[in-house]
Amino acid sequence: MLRPAVSPDVLREVVLMAMNEEVAAEPASHCRLVSSGSLGVELGLRALNVGSGDRVAVCGYDYPGNLRAIESIGARPLLIDADPTGYSLDPDQLNKLNPADIKAVVVSHLYGIPADVEAIGRICKQNNWQWIEDACQTPLMPISGRFAGSHGSLGILSFGGSKPLTAGNGGAIVTSDVRIASKLNALLDRPSDAAPVSPLQAAALLPQLCRLHLCNLQRAQTIARLADEVSWLSDSMLGVCPPPDATCYKLAFLSHCRDSLLAELHEAGIPAGDGFRSMHRSSRRRCDRIGELRRCEQLGEQVCLIDHRALLANNAAQDQLVQCLQRIRLT
Ligand SMILES: Cc1ncc(COP(=O)(O)O)c(C=O)c1O
Repeated sequence: MLRPAVSPDVLREVVLMAMNEEVAAEPASHCRLVSSGSLGVELGLRALNVGSGDRVAVCGYDYPGNLRAIESIGARPLLIDADPTGYSLDPDQLNKLNPADIKAVVVSHLYGIPADVEAIGRICKQNNWQWIEDACQTPLMPISGRFAGSHGSLGILSFGGSKPLTAGNGGAIVTSDVRIASKLNALLDRPSDAAPVSPLQAAALLPQLCRLHLCNLQRAQTIARLADEVSWLSDSMLGVCPPPDATCYKLAFLSHCRDSLLAELHEAGIPAGDGFRSMHRSSRRRCDRIGELRRCEQLGEQVCLIDHRALLANNAAQDQLVQCLQRIRLT
């Protein structure tokens, strides 16, 4: 029988092939498409046998759905502060925990700035914790010689509305662990796929996979130019710059006067917004925390994001963006 050229199966294989390019050790050997990245994190936790009463460490500044995913399976989030020089979970804080304190860890790469996967991976291995690498914002971003999503026990991608690879909705779970892959299959095959990606979504995604590298180059070029030519912006990035090969769909920086700055950006027609709400004040009935989560608080109050629509600007549109940003005077 002839196989259709474009199908979720083909997409699954292409995602795996792309993730394994140039990777020698422990390639991701299994990919399961799912209906969203959020569901991917929840199913990932289930596939790691995390359940009722277990504690899961997660950064207090993260996609709020990750906290919900932990709660939805009856587990309890343990909030960890963010890296003082980044946006993701701080490995030094994670390192303060004892092996029995938690069962698993969820770590996201945000705004094209990679989490310290080497330190996190090492700590998880030492303590025998499983970890989920949330690469929803950073599909196919090279980090420490492998692609985002292939460092953890399993990795999650999103094909949601605003993402670098988008089909409006959708996601994927990748792993090199055959037991995790079998558990995922058992969770999803009932016997029809309980959280499918459609052929139409696959058709939308396949050409984007081929173009992702070019889009990344374009975004990186815009970011480099903005950092070079808009001094207040490079100051506000505080030296935290996405690497040139980042999959960066939003450019993050910090501002003490976020509301007025965002109002000015909007007035200038620049697509910009704020970051996630920090979870440092979440009720103690919902979660535990390590320390005061000061960095999370700061990120929750100060993160501003310039959207990928502006970062993909080329030529005249890029000149205009630079000029608009240069005209903005911080008060
Ligand atoms: C870091 C992170 N994780 C997970 C998700 C969830 O992805 P989805 O929208 O596909 O559910 C998002 C979405 O914005 C995200 O930014």
